[in-house]
Amino acid sequence: MSGELENKKLIKKIVWASTRSSMEVDNYKHNKSGKKSKSYWSLFSSLVHYFAFILKVFNLYNKGLKNAKNIIINKIELKYKNLPENFDNYTILHLSDLHTDSIKELEDIIINKIKNLNVDVCFITGDFRKDITGSIKNIIKITKKITSNINAKDGIYAVLGNHDTYLMTDYEEELKLKFLINESVSINRGKDKITVTGTDDPYRYYTAQAKEALEKDIKGFKIALVHTSELHETAAKNNYNLYLCGHTHGGQICLPGGTPVITHQFDGKKFFKGLWKHLNMIGYTSSGCGVSGIPLRFYSQGEITIFTLKKI
Ligand SMILES: [Fe+2]
Repeated sequence: MSGELENKKLIKKIVWASTRSSMEVDNYKHNKSGKKSKSYWSLFSSLVHYFAFILKVFNLYNKGLKNAKNIIINKIELKYKNLPENFDNYTILHLSDLHTDSIKELEDIIINKIKNLNVDVCFITGDFRKDITGSIKNIIKITKKITSNINAKDGIYAVLGNHDTYLMTDYEEELKLKFLINESVSINRGKDKITVTGTDDPYRYYTAQAKEALEKDIKGFKIALVHTSELHETAAKNNYNLYLCGHTHGGQICLPGGTPVITHQFDGKKFFKGLWKHLNMIGYTSSGCGVSGIPLRFYSQGEITIFTLKKI
């Protein structure tokens, strides 16, 4: 990389980090319509703890905790006409909403599930920790253990979620991953390449740079990594082929049948779980590995997802 390009990237990162750091302390959610809305996370947290108490009274707490520890490996094939030949059968390990410190045993549960997997690339779509503030010392230590158990030929790429802090991006080397902050990278296989674009979290930390990153004129097969589904319109209109996200935990606490009570999305229940399609773009909202607010799941399934891209 030329010195000039490196300087430009460094300046871009400094500008982003200073904007993100001020947003992290202002207690507002900054969304894509440009509006700010007050974050009621502490009130929400108090309510869920009251809810946890009620569940304990009705002996449902342990059942919900057991559900949250039950994480499955979900294997999905995605078929594309325009997939470059050398990416036929390309495998993607998709992890989202690890929230690894939300349940004591979660770190080991995840490691046991992923340590024997061999994939081409791993994408992590944000929310590494349980809390939205506080020290990151512990979560860096846990995440390092997780990423050192990932076997991905082309490496690990990640984006930040609304629970994460910009400070985590200083630990890329230690975590053996690359954070994509409103930027794109190419993955090459012989004569072919695919592009992967990652943005900052649009739920709480939206800036125009996230949209601009997806609007860059890049040709060929493209994958978007975003913490939430909320940039689907921009990605689809800019010819992205695959959009991977998480954030909703599949509802986490759902009614029988899987209807979520809360999704924490500005788009409500839209694209809150699983596979979806928008224009010509395939999207997937992972139900995530971990949990937040309360360490329980009802009628939602924690998951680790493996995609295989197929050329048709
Ligand atoms: Fe999350």
